[in-house]
Amino acid sequence: MKRKIVSALVCAAMVATMVAGCGSSDSAATTTDATEETTDDAAADDAAAADDTAASGDVITIGFAQVGHESDWRTASTQSCQDVFSTENGYDLQFVDCDNDSAVQLEAVRGFIEQDVDYIIIDPIVSTGWDTVLTECEDAGIPVIVIDRTIDDSDKYVSWVGSNFNTEGLAAGEWLKAYAEAKNIDELNILVIEGSTGASATIGRTEGFKEIADREGWTILDSQSGDFTQDGGQEVMESYCKSYEGQFNVVICQNDNEAFGAMDAMTAAGVSYGVDGDVILVSFDACTAGLEFVMSGDINADFECNPLAAPFVEEVIQTIEAGGTPEKEVYMEEHWFVNEDILTSITVDGAEQALTVVTQEVVDAQY
Ligand code: AHR
Repeated sequence: MKRKIVSALVCAAMVATMVAGCGSSDSAATTTDATEETTDDAAADDAAAADDTAASGDVITIGFAQVGHESDWRTASTQSCQDVFSTENGYDLQFVDCDNDSAVQLEAVRGFIEQDVDYIIIDPIVSTGWDTVLTECEDAGIPVIVIDRTIDDSDKYVSWVGSNFNTEGLAAGEWLKAYAEAKNIDELNILVIEGSTGASATIGRTEGFKEIADREGWTILDSQSGDFTQDGGQEVMESYCKSYEGQFNVVICQNDNEAFGAMDAMTAAGVSYGVDGDVILVSFDACTAGLEFVMSGDINADFECNPLAAPFVEEVIQTIEAGGTPEKEVYMEEHWFVNEDILTSITVDGAEQALTVVTQEVVDAQY
């Protein structure tokens, strides 16, 4: 009962923030407190509320509407949530694998409202079509936390924790430019295997990479969806190998599993790739299996997307439980991985960013 009052207050604070025009996605990493207390007073109140919650021993019920199980990255994301929101840690996690179906995901969220869970976590399959169901969550007084992919047509959630997909795309483009210069490759003919259509991860990576491609005058021969799966990557690459035989020297896969499928298709078609091959192969995610292929030289570069959001989500929940207001946007830290040491850094959006050469130690340290 007490937890529902906290939830209602958070939703009221969200509405106040939105009315004040501070709740848009531009309000990066800002903390807005609905009260006019001093920081010390607020901290003391937060601590007291946290003690109260801990002392009550209440189990916190969370509904998590996960995208599906399409990739290694997704498996790591699900595992991270199950580890953090475990029974031992005082949580009851209601998990729904939405199998990449937006209708199923909306129904899952509505099911959590019916169950009257304390919090709802959504990793949105697509970035639009959310305002109605988020309004229903708000009306029910249930705070929503968005992870990984973004929701672009509603800000009725308390917090988003994830990656900057546009920066990942920009980084891949800047790396390719610097790499081609270092290797004296003066013509780039590129094939892109996109992720799932409508997902913000696909949109951000596509736009970021295209910005550099357009600036540099590269040719993008084709760009089709492989749905973030190994089968999808293989199928698209098989068709590319037939349609663009002998015409391409770069393949950009928007996740590791697509890259695994693309490698199988290129091998079958007699196309060589990687550091010793004719085709530069770039991937995103940098999960363990992806990094193993970077270390072996099959993938030239891999741009990380960090799946371990759950500990940050727990901080959001504990902030709310303690009576505070969490940050609206939390960006995960990410790294860029390469096979060769001919470049040590790239400049992305004016900032110098390190490139990590993959060794066994690096692979072992990855999720
Ligand atoms: O939304 C994150 C993306 O979704 C990851 O890059 C991909 O592997 C996953 O399926």
